[in-house]
Amino acid sequence: CGIVGYVGSQVPSARPLDVVLEGLRRLEYRGYDSAGVAVVEPDGALVTAKKAGKLANLVELLEHEPLPSGTAAIGHTRWATHGGPTDVNAHPHVAGKLALIHNGIVENFATLKAELLADGVEFRSETDTEVAAHLVSRAYEQTGDLTVALTQVARRLEGTFTLLAVHADVPDVVVGARHDSPLVVGLGEGENFLGSDVAAFIAHTREALELGQDQVVTISPSSVTVTDFDGAPVEARRFTVDWDAAAAEKGGFRSFMDKEIHDQPHAVADTLLGRTDVGGRLVLDEIHIEESVLRAVDKIVVIACGTAAYAGHVAKYAIEHWCRIPVEVELAHEFRYRDPVVNERTLVVAVSQSGETMDTLMAVRHAREQGAKVLAIVNTHGSTIPREADAVLYTHAGPEIAVASTKAFLSQITAAYLLGLYLAQLRGNMYADEVGAILAELRAMPDKIQQVLDRAGRVREIARWMVDTQSVLFLGRHVGFPVAMEGALKLKELAYIHAEGFAAGELKHGPIALIEPGQPVFVIVPSPRGRHSLHSKVISNIQEIRARGARTLVIAEDGDEAVRPYADEVFWVPQAPTLLAPLLSVVPLQIFACELATAKGLDVDQPRNLAKSVTVE
Ligand code: G6P
Repeated sequence: CGIVGYVGSQVPSARPLDVVLEGLRRLEYRGYDSAGVAVVEPDGALVTAKKAGKLANLVELLEHEPLPSGTAAIGHTRWATHGGPTDVNAHPHVAGKLALIHNGIVENFATLKAELLADGVEFRSETDTEVAAHLVSRAYEQTGDLTVALTQVARRLEGTFTLLAVHADVPDVVVGARHDSPLVVGLGEGENFLGSDVAAFIAHTREALELGQDQVVTISPSSVTVTDFDGAPVEARRFTVDWDAAAAEKGGFRSFMDKEIHDQPHAVADTLLGRTDVGGRLVLDEIHIEESVLRAVDKIVVIACGTAAYAGHVAKYAIEHWCRIPVEVELAHEFRYRDPVVNERTLVVAVSQSGETMDTLMAVRHAREQGAKVLAIVNTHGSTIPREADAVLYTHAGPEIAVASTKAFLSQITAAYLLGLYLAQLRGNMYADEVGAILAELRAMPDKIQQVLDRAGRVREIARWMVDTQSVLFLGRHVGFPVAMEGALKLKELAYIHAEGFAAGELKHGPIALIEPGQPVFVIVPSPRGRHSLHSKVISNIQEIRARGARTLVIAEDGDEAVRPYADEVFWVPQAPTLLAPLLSVVPLQIFACELATAKGLDVDQPRNLAKSVTVE
């Protein structure tokens, strides 16, 4: 869910509502099942509006039934957990003169609700959030202090939560509490902000405060105070957001996804920027893990979910080849619950765009409890995973708004390459000039990605023709395998088409049974210049499926004429070293999915049922 809070001057105006709606627009990628706002007026009135469906529905409602001016406001965009996505279940939830919004799950809500019901409290919704609203309202009646009331309730709740509350008696205050769920503070002049992430307020300020777990924050127009759940004052870390607010706008593109696909040359260049010294030597000062520890590492485990996990799969091939350290890649939610073998000599690499994915966060904690060092590869500053990891390598891809990840994926792969080269350099697996040669190839990648984008006309055309396709298969081998998986994931996420990615070598062991006349199959062909004989093996795979009637859509390197006789379509990408090729070969697949979904009339930025950062397990 996305959460925004704002408090401005004592004079009521439209600004609190405007700021909150603008923040929700920027956070809508966190969930879009329903949206709602509450505004506090200085004369003690509290008004709310909420609506099922996307934010646009709420905005339309507010056009017909405008809310009065206020001094503070909170807003919420929901990804439903408890209770279906209806108007009634939308946040905020009101109890007396209090309005409250919530991200997360209150696990002991049944017990707490029973207690309130026994006391005669009536409930309007099915949500766990309304329980919290009543508890805070009652605590306020007893204590007369909203911060104290929220702190008391926060101590009683089990599960994960970010809570934000406003109360009509204190019209110039918003309070927030977090436990295993995100919340950051934006610092303005004569106004302050709260948000699930910095995107909520970057249009207004780049100065921010990072909150720790189990903290309560109280903002007024002129002050921000932070305490722990015992009420003791806490010093929060201040930071400056290096994202450009304009980066969170569509900038003339028809969707954020389209824009982010086109941002990829910059995203990769920015990931590389400032990470080499004048002599071309790789310097990753931000890895605050002692060199002796990194030298002693005997296993790397990459943990991540979704697209980030496929970036991890690509990283495995590169890091094992360059560093000769075994690398396991595991979905974070599986890792956590299978008693994994990790210890002081394990380096766990947690990959996450948002830095908030709960499954990944829990895996990070588990790894650290086992004594492993955790290095995070994350895009979002002020997020939780970097805070809890031993070190972080930021990807610097800029804000990614579309739910389906694109530029963050390329940046994650790039950051993982840097990590691999750094370890190889540190551990003496590669000579400096070898590392330098690969870095030079990496620095050439942004231009090559741009070439792939410039040639995208044909893949768009094919995607539009295939608008009625029911199923698409993707085959790849070596680093092409995770690319195939990612290509299939993009198509599922965006176009709701059945899609599967396979290792090309596995074809004959089962998936070939799926091939029937007309079945479209994307094949990612490795470079013919690679050291292995993989190229000819994959060409054989194409022949095998073509013989059975498949329609072959081939991604191949410029000059690879061997593919032509067996391909119904070839999408050419510039030549690149085998390990770096995923930065190119995935791009036509992203464009294919985006274009096909657009042709189907679907919202590519906000696909059904998904959310960009899933902060519940
Ligand atoms: C969600 C998103 C995916 C994303 C995954 C991991 O499921 O819908 O697009 O890949 O989370 O997110 P992260 O922020 O950890 O990279």
